[in-house]
Amino acid sequence: MGKNHDDDRDYLPLFETKSSKNCTQFRLFVGTMLVGICSIFVYRLWYMPLPTKEEGVVLIIRIIRLWAWIGVFLSELWFTLYWFVKIVVRWNPVYRHTFKDRLTLKYGEKDLPGVDIFVCTADPKAEPPLMVVNTVLSVMAYNYPPEKLSVYLSDDGASDLTFYALLEASKFSKEWLPFCNKFRVEPRSPEAYFTKAPQPLDDDHRYHWASIKRLYEDMKIRIESATKAGQISEAIRKENKGFLEWDFVSSRRDHQTIIQILIDGRNPKAVDIDEHPLPTLVYLAREKRPKYHHNFKAGAMNSLIRVSAQISDAPIILNVDCDMYSNYSESVRDAMCFFLDEKKGDEIAFVQFPQAFENLTENDIYSSSLRVIMETMHDDPKVELRGYDTNGGPCYIGTGCFHRRESLSGKTYNEASKVLLDWKRKNEDDEGISAEALEETSKVLASCTYEENTRWGKEMGVMYGCLVEDILTGLMIQCRGWRSVYYNPKRKAFLGAAPTTLQQALVQHKRWGEGNLQIFFSRYCPLKHGYKKIPLGLRLSYLVSLLWSLNCLASLYYVIMPSLCLLKGISLFPQVSNIWAVPFLYVFFGNRAYSLGELLMCGGTCREWLNYQRVWLFKRTTSYFFSFLDFVLRLLGFTDAPFIITAKVVDDDVSERYERELIEFGTTSPMFTILTTLSLLYAWGFIWGLKRLVFTEQSLVLNPFTLQTVLCGLLVFINLPIYQAIFIRKDKGTLPNSVIYQSIMLTLVTCSIVHY
Ligand SMILES: *[C@@H]1O[C@H](CO)[C@@H](O)[C@H](O)[C@H]1NC(C)=O
Ligand SMILES: *[C@@H]1O[C@H](CO)[C@@H](O)[C@H](O)[C@H]1NC(C)=O
Repeated sequence: MGKNHDDDRDYLPLFETKSSKNCTQFRLFVGTMLVGICSIFVYRLWYMPLPTKEEGVVLIIRIIRLWAWIGVFLSELWFTLYWFVKIVVRWNPVYRHTFKDRLTLKYGEKDLPGVDIFVCTADPKAEPPLMVVNTVLSVMAYNYPPEKLSVYLSDDGASDLTFYALLEASKFSKEWLPFCNKFRVEPRSPEAYFTKAPQPLDDDHRYHWASIKRLYEDMKIRIESATKAGQISEAIRKENKGFLEWDFVSSRRDHQTIIQILIDGRNPKAVDIDEHPLPTLVYLAREKRPKYHHNFKAGAMNSLIRVSAQISDAPIILNVDCDMYSNYSESVRDAMCFFLDEKKGDEIAFVQFPQAFENLTENDIYSSSLRVIMETMHDDPKVELRGYDTNGGPCYIGTGCFHRRESLSGKTYNEASKVLLDWKRKNEDDEGISAEALEETSKVLASCTYEENTRWGKEMGVMYGCLVEDILTGLMIQCRGWRSVYYNPKRKAFLGAAPTTLQQALVQHKRWGEGNLQIFFSRYCPLKHGYKKIPLGLRLSYLVSLLWSLNCLASLYYVIMPSLCLLKGISLFPQVSNIWAVPFLYVFFGNRAYSLGELLMCGGTCREWLNYQRVWLFKRTTSYFFSFLDFVLRLLGFTDAPFIITAKVVDDDVSERYERELIEFGTTSPMFTILTTLSLLYAWGFIWGLKRLVFTEQSLVLNPFTLQTVLCGLLVFINLPIYQAIFIRKDKGTLPNSVIYQSIMLTLVTCSIVHY
């Protein structure tokens, strides 16, 4: 464009993008895998057991064998298809590096754009107010000019307890922020800091540390006792007129909009104890009425977008879940490096940080770290979000993401004004408006009726009507011509709480699976909707998660059928001595070895890998199966599944078992019944397989059942914790008896049908 050489010479990039060096081994591996897979297909077609002229029982067995064979073949075709999209994602990953020091060199503190930070909470029981305010305090304390930060807490639970906690936090921040700045405290969530960081050594620091700690502990006690009591005492209510609003709240589903500007950053009096300005802090509970659908978190986000536009109108928006505190105070600057880069910054709509967890056990029993999706090591060659990045930008995963306000509110890349630095704080124009007046004018923006007959939720803001609104929103932004960036610094920017029971982990994935499937079958399916808008590679990358649920069919078939066929004496795999056994062994063990290598390179352990394989199997046979069922039922108009918030509080003994890495069952759930039934089925199949191997003249290598028995044996091995829960464990977190009895009945019925 109009740039001449001199401009180019002055251009100092704020970030760099490197592609990975050692892709060659990976590509070789993919090549050999492809040969293996093709050989399997040839084998399946060549040796298809077509029925011959026999009659009676033999014929029936042959027909069953044919169908079993075709099913296995179709499953293998599916796995190959899915494997292919995963390869697309991993083909040419890139990684990013930022130059934060150049940022201030170039722009100076004064010219940095403002950031509006959205924290969303929905339920004071599942998400304790103390945790919420820790997150709020951690983002208020970013190392960024405080007059440019505004923090908005959206409380969909409309709870005065949360409001009270926020009020306490606003007072505490006056001490906490100067302390953080003075001693360069990390992390800046007080709870995490006081429990994790070592005590300071020098006297001055220690003196301050002790006094701040005492203040924090006092606040903690006040918030926790209010939370425990479940209500706010009269004395406290009198202190702040904000509580008067709750006189009109009849329930969390029926109330007016509540907006309280707790700290008005424009006000010269809003300063901390060192007379430095404070970030703006706003509490928002949008209006809810039973007659209007509130669209869950997407609705809350859209209200926040409008209200914040009225109050601070910063060009960059950060949104975090209330359990994800900031673990690094420089992250805002990292994100700015992408947005403010002169050459490549314009087209970037959002910068996605990975979701990292702090409550993981050593070997991550529920495999929640999604380590391979998020990945921790810097130049590991093949990881999913990184691969998305190469293909046109990662998806938006709903938390830990910096957005450009323009792209989030529906502009296409071309119409958006390109220069972020023109930004001026709104309050410079409306200095005169009081906080009360701003609250009043913003109320209407968060009302139930505001969005009627508007494009909100359809083209503007976060999309409605989808269980994974974030993925869909990110996709729509990319289809409007924007790019996105995945940034995964070594030191994690945000830390959240991982699920601590198996049920939570599975239910979370059920929702994700279903939401992704909705997108796949909607008119926004990236294959169709993204045509000519986003690159083919990105359209295919989206399929990795969009097809999660559909994996259940092939997976269930592939684990159930070989076991059942062992009972019936039907062989589905070649003998070990047969040359055709080689591709099966290579593809199966090659892929396992590869995933083990990938995880070890990302910093995992072998046990973790085993857990990962187990949870992977559990998810495919239960979470995804149920999300598929729910999706079908919903299509037929049967259910209206509610949005389930994953609880962030757990009992002490549950946590204790979690620490010991014992899988927590504890409740009755159809998912557990399926898991238990399946594991009994594998065990039964394995026993019959062994019988067929031992009581026969044939040697192992010639026996047609060897591979099948090995497969069952591996399934049994991976399910050991379930047998342990059935037969050995006696603690409260073990499988309930009702689940065990149901499963035994189901297994008996299935096996006797098969044996018959
Ligand atoms: C997370 O871990 C910490 C320390 O191990 C523990 O105190 C806390 O209760 C855990 N939180 C949850 C939600 O399990
Ligand atoms: C969180 O921040 C602390 C320093 O405050 C750092 O030591 C730790 O490694 C970070 N956690 C992660 C997971 O990066």
